[in-house]
Amino acid sequence: MHSTTTIPDTLCYLNGQYQPLCEAKVSVLDRGFIFGDGIYEVVPVYAQKLFRFDQHLARLGRSLAKVRIENPLSHEQWLERSRKLIAALHEHGGATDQLVYIQVTRGVAMRDHVMPTGIAPTVFMMASPMKAASGEQRHHGVACISARDFRWERGDIKSISLLGNVLARQMSADRDAVETIMFRDGFLTEASASNVWVVHEGALLGPPKSEHVLEGIRVDLMKELCEECGIGYNLRPIPEADVASADELLLSSATKEVLPVTTLDGDSVGHGALRGKPGPVYARLYEAYQKAKRLQSI
Ligand SMILES: Cc1ncc(COP(=O)(O)O)c(C=O)c1O
Repeated sequence: MHSTTTIPDTLCYLNGQYQPLCEAKVSVLDRGFIFGDGIYEVVPVYAQKLFRFDQHLARLGRSLAKVRIENPLSHEQWLERSRKLIAALHEHGGATDQLVYIQVTRGVAMRDHVMPTGIAPTVFMMASPMKAASGEQRHHGVACISARDFRWERGDIKSISLLGNVLARQMSADRDAVETIMFRDGFLTEASASNVWVVHEGALLGPPKSEHVLEGIRVDLMKELCEECGIGYNLRPIPEADVASADELLLSSATKEVLPVTTLDGDSVGHGALRGKPGPVYARLYEAYQKAKRLQSI
């Protein structure tokens, strides 16, 4: 079984150097370690090819700009380094579906909340095997719980300060559920590491883009897939009651792709014969997603 406590010796990239992951070290004064002062990205890789890489890099650029860290590498440099790590992991263990993780922190300085000037950002990258949803999860759907969104108000920044998300995710882990779906002031925001979608009268609904929600790369992808499938798509405020009465409930993320939620807080999702089962909108979006993976990966 895969263990998260054993650090493998696969290649990673740290500040200009490739080295075994188990040997990579940063300073205790790195502002990522001291303040969680940094941002990250997770890019899915299929058959050794990057999926929606340009969109992930554009979001990386937006996150960096929002926290005032200069983008340390060019598009070509990010791409070249990502590809080298993908090839190395493939040679090392044979995994072809992977995740490329990118992290940039403000760098190393004596501890002071004020942003120091003239320091180099810390750049870290690694590739790891993708842990895709199981066939059983796709067949039966997954369980989620709900909670108040108690995180900070800048969910739009893909910040490495993830304590709120960690606490939220653990609430569901403690109840053998795969995600915690959150509500702020009675309206749906997102889950601890996924965007959340409601199907209502055949259309896919998601919360509006805002500072409370991460703009997942799959938010725009879902729009494209809906257009392709002739499914209505709308981003609008979603009250808690609309989630409880949804025809279908879906999660999306780099690793989950699109995944059906069939129970929420122990209650079956949906109506009639489809109650507690993955629905038709999920099935069509999942199929379209698989096609997009084949056509759009670079
Ligand atoms: C809080 C949060 N929301 C949404 C998402 C989904 O984003 P993406 O589709 O880019 O993976 C993630 C992904 O990890 C996340 O952490």
